[in-house]
Order: sequence, then structure tokens, then C-alpha cells
Amino acid sequence: MAFTIAIDGPAAAGKGTISKAVAAHFGYAHLDTGLLYRATGARMLDGLDPLEAARALVPDDLKREGLRSADVARAASQVAALPEVRRALVDFQRAFARRAGGAVLDGRDIGTVICPEAEVKLFVTASDAVRAERRHAELTAYDPEVTLESVLADLRERDARDSARATAPLKPAEDAQLIDTTDMDIKAAVAAAIAIVTARQDEV
Ligand code: C5P
Repeated sequence: MAFTIAIDGPAAAGKGTISKAVAAHFGYAHLDTGLLYRATGARMLDGLDPLEAARALVPDDLKREGLRSADVARAASQVAALPEVRRALVDFQRAFARRAGGAVLDGRDIGTVICPEAEVKLFVTASDAVRAERRHAELTAYDPEVTLESVLADLRERDARDSARATAPLKPAEDAQLIDTTDMDIKAAVAAAIAIVTARQDEV
């Protein structure tokens, strides 16, 4: 049976960690849809046309090294503002979402555009300062020189572009349940998500 969990929210709010943990808990497949845009952005930085890159994506591209870097994140958010690029990635995401056995997808537009019929929709947020601290801790693994100020500026720039774009902007679905992880540790955030999913599973 298909059961889709859509998890959206801004960068570094904790949706990736929550999604992985929720998928593992319920035995569902997980797709980090940001990787589709990051892989497309990385190919654009290689010099390819972004639309051709999006159309030619294969699953192995999502395993490419360096997709978590700040440069690729910026490129991802640029290609993600192109409606044709988004369109090229829709079918893959919808097929993944409705696969048998359950699926968790995290991104920006899963509950609003990709899967408006998802059984569970979560919108995960946290304050700018907390999100920047978390992303800074991750990025120093690649680049020990990166500063908290530059990470905060990058996050704000990316969120502003993701929220302002005309096609599939970052925003909660009307029926999404909000999880604000500002004052939560990861265990509490995962527990909150699992409780919401469990309650919904009892209804369907
Ligand atoms: O989630 P992540 O930070 O990896 O996403 C990278 C970029 O990809 C985002 O800033 C956003 O521009 C784009 N994205 C999107 N829609 C999604 C997932 C990611 O536009 N569903």
C-alpha cells in the first residue's frame, strides 16, 4: 500500500535527519529531493545547461561527491527557480512517493506541489540562528575556514530565493503540521514526527 510522508521546510531546519529517522522507523523508502536540485546545480557548475542536466539525471548522480558544499547549495537554489527544471523532476518524485510500501520525501514543495495527496504533511522550521549553527557545524567538515556569518548569510539568501520564486515556492501546505525544532533536540523532533505519523496511520 502507498503511504506518503511529505516533509518540507527551509534549509537546515532538521528535515533531513527527521526524514531519515522516520523512514527507518516505519521501514519506508526515503528520498532527499534536495539532492535532485544539488546534482543538477553541480552539473551546471560543470558547464552544462541546467535543463539538459535535469533531464539526464540518473540515480547515481545523487551519490556524487561534494553535493553538500555551499557552492552547490547556491547553484541548486538557482536551478530550482527554473520552472522547466522543476517540471523535468516531477515524475520521478511522484513515482517514488506512490511506490508500494511507503515513502518519505523531504524538500520544499512536496506537500504543496509534488504530493498534495500525501497522507502526512509536516513543515519543519527553526530560527535562522539555530539553523545557521547546525549548518555551520556540518560545513566545517568540508571547509574548516567557513564562518558562521557567511553560513547565515547564505541560508538567508537561499531561503529568500526559495520562498520568492514563482514556481513551487517554499511554504507550508495549508494542511501541514508544523514542527519548530528551535528548542528541540533531534530525539524530541523525531519523536514528534513519529507521533504525528502514527496517529495518521490509525486513521487510514
Ligand atoms: O534541501 P537542500 O538544502 O538540499 O536543497 C537544496 C536546494 O534545492 C534548496 O535551496 C532549494 O532551492 C532546492 N529544492 C527545491 N525543492 C525541493 C528540494 C530542494 O527547490 N523539493
